[in-house]
Amino acid sequence: MSRYVIIGASRGIGLELARQLAARGEEVTATTRGACEALAEAGCEVVEGIDVTSDESAERLAGALADGGVDVLVCNAGLLISDTLESLNFDDALRQYMVNALGPVRMTRALLPLMKEGGKIGVVTSRVGSLGDNTSGGNYGYRMSKAAANMAAVNLAVELRARGIAVAALHPGYVRTEMTGGHGNISPEAAARGLILRLDELSMETTGTFWHADGQRLPW
Ligand SMILES: NC(=O)c1ccc[n+]([C@@H]2O[C@H](COP(=O)([O-])OP(=O)(O)OC[C@H]3O[C@@H](n4cnc5c(N)ncnc54)[C@H](OP(=O)(O)O)[C@@H]3O)[C@@H](O)[C@H]2O)c1
Repeated sequence: MSRYVIIGASRGIGLELARQLAARGEEVTATTRGACEALAEAGCEVVEGIDVTSDESAERLAGALADGGVDVLVCNAGLLISDTLESLNFDDALRQYMVNALGPVRMTRALLPLMKEGGKIGVVTSRVGSLGDNTSGGNYGYRMSKAAANMAAVNLAVELRARGIAVAALHPGYVRTEMTGGHGNISPEAAARGLILRLDELSMETTGTFWHADGQRLPW
């Protein structure tokens, strides 16, 4: 049994990750900003009031986890505010950067002292953050924040190699959640299943790579 910490698990993909990992017998600590009864019902330990834009949240979470250490950290919290070049609002772009790009770094930095050799970190970014895969344009704030999240994953992988901690960027697919207004090709259940497989496979041999939940390797 490993201890998984899922950041941003109140709904959608994060909730499903927490549910499936708890169901297979892992020890799961899931974080939310508000209350979420479904997590406790699934047998997860829940730490409420965790906002990835807050240092106080990061420190409090580290304190709550200090008893047992962390084997696998999944930075899943994300924010999408759709825009076009014309409608782009720069304050919204900054908010997305704070959540999507700096959030994983803030939480990783706080929890790193609790991680040992053999630990893993999954940063749930998005294919739309890929520079090499961009064929459709639009969504400046979200895309740019996820591109920065991809760089965070690469940077963490480089720095944490010496400590034996593997890091991957993960794309869940186009998933029917609140973020997409219920649109998408797959359910949160299917996305979480794929993400868990990718986390299971992640090793020091594959650290610093970017994966679709369906098993495709993605370009940065
Ligand atoms: N759905 C897709 O098609 C898709 C595609 C590519 C990538 N992704 C990525 O997958 C991840 C999960 O997305 P989803 O589709 O499950 O979205 P979702 O249903 O909108 O869930 C987003 C989660 O992030 C949390 N969150 C948002 N801002 C936060 C903050 N400041 N601090 C802490 N938690 C925060 C939300 O918590 P609250 O309940 O407190 O708001 C919620 O638990 C995101 O990183 C997203 O960018 C999704």
